Amino acid sequence: MDCLVIKGGKPLKGEVKISGAKNAALPLMAATLLTGEECTLRNLPNLSDVRFMSSILKSLGATVETGRGSIKVRAKKIEGFGDYDLIRKMRGSICILGPLMGRLKEAKISMPGGCVIGARPIDLHLKGMRDLGAKISIKSGYVHAKTKDLRGAESFLGGRCGPTVLGTANLMMAATLAKGKTVIHSAACEPEIEDLANFLIAMGAKISGAGSPTITIQGVKKLYGAEHRVIPDRIEAATFALAGAVTNGNVKVQGCVPGHLSAVLDKMREAGVKFSLEKNSIHIKPSKKLKSVDITTMPHAGFPTDVQAQMMVLMLKSPGISIITERIFESRFMHVNELARMGADISIEGPSAIVKGGKPLSGADVMASDLRASAALVLAGLSAQGTTRVNRVYHIDRGYEDIDGKLRSLGANIKREPGH
Ligand code: EPU
Repeated sequence: MDCLVIKGGKPLKGEVKISGAKNAALPLMAATLLTGEECTLRNLPNLSDVRFMSSILKSLGATVETGRGSIKVRAKKIEGFGDYDLIRKMRGSICILGPLMGRLKEAKISMPGGCVIGARPIDLHLKGMRDLGAKISIKSGYVHAKTKDLRGAESFLGGRCGPTVLGTANLMMAATLAKGKTVIHSAACEPEIEDLANFLIAMGAKISGAGSPTITIQGVKKLYGAEHRVIPDRIEAATFALAGAVTNGNVKVQGCVPGHLSAVLDKMREAGVKFSLEKNSIHIKPSKKLKSVDITTMPHAGFPTDVQAQMMVLMLKSPGISIITERIFESRFMHVNELARMGADISIEGPSAIVKGGKPLSGADVMASDLRASAALVLAGLSAQGTTRVNRVYHIDRGYEDIDGKLRSLGANIKREPGH
C-alpha cells in the first residue's frame, strides 16, 4: 500500500486545474444504463472509483470504451444484475438501482453496509422505488426490487439528516421511464443532481426543478444516446483552495465553479483568508491573520460534509476556539485522532469537534481512514513543520486525481512511496 511522504512548511504557489467531479461521474455513468444507445461522458476524472464503476457497467453487459478523460458506454442489452462483490465494495454503486428499475423494472443488488463515516442506510432509496410501485425484499445480503409497471408518484425523500443525494438520483433516474408524472419532494439540491438532470434531459427525459427541493419528472417511453461534460469537482476545488490557505500560499484554483462553493468560501472569508474570484477560478492569496470560526455541515447549499475534515486543518491554523458540528454523518471525525499525532488540540463532544487552533503542527506518521479524512491529513502535512507520512493512500486515490502530482506542481515537497 502506497503512502505519501510530505515535507511541510512551504507556502504553495501557482495554478492548479480541477478535474471532473467524482460524485457527479458515478450517477452519470449509471444513467447510461437507461438506454441501449451509445452515451459519451467527457471530463471524467481518472480515479479508482470511476474505474470501479466501469467494471460494474461491464459486469452488467455494457460495452465500455475508455479514452483520455472520456468514456463511451453502450448498454444494448443488460445481462443479469452485475457482480455482487464489485457492487458491494463501492457504496456509490447503489446508484445503479434507479437505472435498472427504469430499464428492467427489476434490480437485485448487494445490500451496502455501513462504512467508517457512519451507518449509511438506503431506506430512502427503497422508499422512492416503493412509491413508484416496486415490491422490495431483502434476502441473503441482496435487495430485490421488482414491479410489473413503474408508475409516477409523489415521493417525499427527506430523512433524519435532510435529503439524500444518491437516493434523489436513483428516484429521478427510475422515474424518467415510469408511466406518468413523478414529483420528488425534499429532493437533494446538490450541483451533482442538476448535472445528472442535464444529462438525462439530453437523453430525452422530461425533468424540471433539478437543483431545487422539488423535482418533477414526466415519464417517457424511451431514452436515447447523448453526450455530456461532467461538472468540475467542487470538493477537489475546496481542498486545493484550503491547501493554499493552510500553507499561506498563493494558489489559483482553475476550472472550478465558485458558485458551487458559496458556503465554504463564506467561511474562509470569515476566517480571514484572502482570495479573489473569477467566473471559473478561485485565487487564494497570503493572509495576514486567521480567525476561528464555527461550522455546521448541512445539505447543499450549506457547508458540505465532504469539506469538513479539510476545513478543520484551517481551524487548527487559526488562533482561538472553533466548533465544527457534523450533521450529515455520525462518525465523520476519524481524522481527529490522527491530527492529534501531529500536535492538534481537538476534543469531540457529541456531533461537535472543539478545535483549539493556533498551535504549530509537527510532522508524524498518520493513517488515512476515508477519502476526505486523508485529504485533511495531506493538508495538515503540508502546513506542518517536518515530515508527515500519510499511510493507506488508496483512500485518497478514490476521489482525487493525481493529488501528489498536482501538489508538486504547486511547489509542495510530496512523494509517493511504498508503505504499510
Ligand atoms: N440517509 C438515510 N437514508 C437513506 C440515504 C441516506 O437516512 O436511504 C442519510 C445518510 O445516513 C446521511 C444523509 O442521509 O445521514 C445524507 O446521505 P446521502 O444519501 O445524501 O449520501 P450519499 O448520497 O450516499 C453522497 C456522496 C458523499 C457525500 C454525501 C453527502 C456520492 C457517491 N457520495 O453520498 O460523498 O458525503 O452525498 O453530500 O455521491 C465523498 O465523496 O467522500 C462522499 C462520502
